[in-house]
Amino acid sequence: MEGKHAGPPLAGVIGWPISHSRSPILHGHWLRRYGIGGFYVPVALAPETFAEGLRALRTVGFVGANVTVPHKEAALALASEITPRAARVGAANTLTFLPDGGLHADNTDVHGFLANLRQGAPGWSATAGPALVLGAGGAARAIVAGLIEEGCPEVRIANRTRDRADRLADHFAGRLTVVDWGFASAAMDGARTIVNTTVLGMAGQADLDVQLDAAPADAVVNDIVYVPLETPLLRAARRRGLTAVDGLGMLLHQAAPGFERWFGTKPAVDEDLRRAVLGA
Ligand code: ATR
Repeated sequence: MEGKHAGPPLAGVIGWPISHSRSPILHGHWLRRYGIGGFYVPVALAPETFAEGLRALRTVGFVGANVTVPHKEAALALASEITPRAARVGAANTLTFLPDGGLHADNTDVHGFLANLRQGAPGWSATAGPALVLGAGGAARAIVAGLIEEGCPEVRIANRTRDRADRLADHFAGRLTVVDWGFASAAMDGARTIVNTTVLGMAGQADLDVQLDAAPADAVVNDIVYVPLETPLLRAARRRGLTAVDGLGMLLHQAAPGFERWFGTKPAVDEDLRRAVLGA
């Protein structure tokens, strides 16, 4: 029965695989910091057991859960209440079990992206000029949605597999300009916001082979990779005197709305949290 759980609030992150997720460390830090007697745990669910697993989590007293790869689209399909952001992105990462048996779905990656840029580049505005997004995967969807929501006048997108960028452009119904991967460096021309959403530059991956020479002097460069914190792209941006924003903040900020919804306290995203997550 709903509302009959007397135990501590439970939440977690569902993925397949899930062992690499830093969300349990992040939420665990906040739970300790605010003296909340709840728990946030990693939950491994294969795609074919996702719906059944979600029902089981509700039964044992979970208040909600984050979902990550590969469940973000399935999560949306199971929801009874969908925020406008989750609908625009076409994927959900934050689920809340409603007392009436329903499922609320939000996408907080958009908030994570925007809040990270605002914190890392004070005064940043999407309206300042065109944006260039590198990559067209799941993360790119949320970032493109955020840029459009914020009134970016022109969002360019370049992806190794052109077809995937074209499909993203279809999803956002004519709001994107697709650029061939080979022209990514040229597409920096006039771009005030430049975001790498590919895995390139991550430890163990090849470097991102693009040049920032054409970017304007007031461009903000953001990498969603956060291992290492300073990717070659961000190092090159700093060397050119551009504002560089690392990717850790997006992970931290996307977690905050779920924590507040489930545990009732708005958590701080600060140096303390960054250290806790980096030191893990
Ligand atoms: P996420 O959900 O984190 O965005 P994803 O959906 O797997 O992850 O997307 C990974 C992104 O990195 C894609 O844009 C991918 O390009 P493709 O669509 O061509 O696969 C990009 N990527 C991965 N390896 C790459 C490489 N070696 N060179 C260029 N882009 C790469």
